[in-house]
Amino acid sequence: MNSVLRWAGSKRKVLAELRRLSPPSFRRYFEPFAGSAVLFFDLMPTTAVLGDLNPEVVATYEALRDAPEEVCHYLYSVPKTKEAYYIVRDLIPENLSNAQRAARLIYLMKGCFNGVYRTNRQGRFNVPLGSRFFALPEPNEIQAASEALRGVTLVCGDFARAVGDASEGDFVYLDPPYSDGTRFRGEYSYQGSFQSTDQERLITSCNDLTKRGVKVLLSFKECEALCEALEGWSLIRINVTRSVAGFAHSRRLAREILARNY
Ligand SMILES: C[S@@+](CC[C@H](N)C(=O)[O-])C[C@H]1O[C@@H](n2cnc3c(N)ncnc32)[C@H](O)[C@@H]1O
Repeated sequence: MNSVLRWAGSKRKVLAELRRLSPPSFRRYFEPFAGSAVLFFDLMPTTAVLGDLNPEVVATYEALRDAPEEVCHYLYSVPKTKEAYYIVRDLIPENLSNAQRAARLIYLMKGCFNGVYRTNRQGRFNVPLGSRFFALPEPNEIQAASEALRGVTLVCGDFARAVGDASEGDFVYLDPPYSDGTRFRGEYSYQGSFQSTDQERLITSCNDLTKRGVKVLLSFKECEALCEALEGWSLIRINVTRSVAGFAHSRRLAREILARNY
């Protein structure tokens, strides 16, 4: 099934390759950089942990899991107009219920420029309306997402915490944000920009998980240091189109690596 979230940097275009590289069987599924979680919704694992640093993403999955009818109620009550988009964009998520937060995020992402989630330094979503509104998910798609999320544990926070109790037989899919290692560009929320220190933590996590007998699939922007650090892993290079590089150069062909420790 498809994710109900539109998300720049989603793995929709390389899903077939990810599916092919995923282990045929595993105990629990972990996706700590969930975003629109396209691999999760494709594999539909029975036991899973989804995590993200972005509280709007986690609130959305929580509401989809626990209150899909309420999400539909709010989602379909907002007109797809420029005026409504900016009113919804200006709502303060902390003042809303989870179902309202979910409806707000699904709606904004369907209308915003390039499906980019980006905030200002105060953490407020600041992406303008794009050239058109994409279709909202149908009620049956919301219901299907709700069923897929039943029994899923959600973690709002850093990736290392979300994979904290992964153990032998589990499968972890890691899809961190692109990083140039230095600059903050506001992609995926202010705190969510991935820096060089985060990359070092990611390598540490990969090594720990490997020692614990966890199967890990990692996708990342081609980076020599990271490739060298993953000694003994099997690496595949692929070309992808990305639109998360900011507004000046919005769509680019990038080289990505898919790395496996199994
Ligand atoms: C490339 S996107 C994941 C896309 C996802 N695979 C999909 O199919 O849509 C990366 C996600 O990581 C989240 N993120 C950024 N830094 C994080 C961190 N330190 N820990 C957990 N999640 C983080 C962002 O909020 C974003 O949703």
